[in-house]
Amino acid sequence: MQKSPIIVALDFNLPEVALSLVDRLTPELCRLKVGKQLFTIAGPALVSQLVQRGFDVFLDLKFHDIPTTVELASRAAASLGVWMINVHALGGTDMMRAARAGVGNASDRPMLIAVTLLTSMNATDMADIGLAGTPETVVLRLAHLAQLSGLDGVVCSAQEATLLKQHLGADFKLVTPGIRPVSSEQDDQQRVMTPVAALMAGSDYLVIGRPVTHAPDPLRALQDIHQQISTISLGS
Ligand code: C5P
Repeated sequence: MQKSPIIVALDFNLPEVALSLVDRLTPELCRLKVGKQLFTIAGPALVSQLVQRGFDVFLDLKFHDIPTTVELASRAAASLGVWMINVHALGGTDMMRAARAGVGNASDRPMLIAVTLLTSMNATDMADIGLAGTPETVVLRLAHLAQLSGLDGVVCSAQEATLLKQHLGADFKLVTPGIRPVSSEQDDQQRVMTPVAALMAGSDYLVIGRPVTHAPDPLRALQDIHQQISTISLGS
């Protein structure tokens, strides 16, 4: 059976709240994302529990440091048995190559992806830090660097997915947040896309938080999204 392209973002303060939600989900229906908020409180113990329950875990810690530190941090993350980890492409080629060395070459190594430009940054923010070019050209440039450094893909907006697939090829994975199923709230996301539109645009994995985690019935919400995407043929 092909695995789900949906990654549920466990954006919680308390491990018990995260686990009570996870109790209502299944590894067939979703993978899970643990970010800085939950990891800072709950640490590797929670990650290991999720892995033991059979879930693919995306450890979203966005490493950005000197190459040696990132290599060792990536090795530590891989030792937790997670499915995916990430780094900031702005850390540069040497840092990304170090991260790639850190995850190793085992067949079950984590996928390693890069964050290009934070979607919270606009043209003014870029100018403030001396980054020339439009957001689109910078995203494409950083995604190219990530690919050259041996990474498996990037986090991007679904709006960028078609362009990135065209330039980087079908095998380079695209992980896209900002997904809103038909008829759900937009929350604080500025530019949203439905699950079907994002997959059609070239996204490989959809990061979905509140439309599932804040739903009255999270399992039902997840099943509804699967129903919506069931007509599309997916990779795993
Ligand atoms: O609740 P929602 O679906 O908006 O959650 C999206 C998740 O994706 C959050 O964990 C958020 O931090 C993350 N994310 C994002 N936009 C990015 C990168 C990550 O929304 N550009």
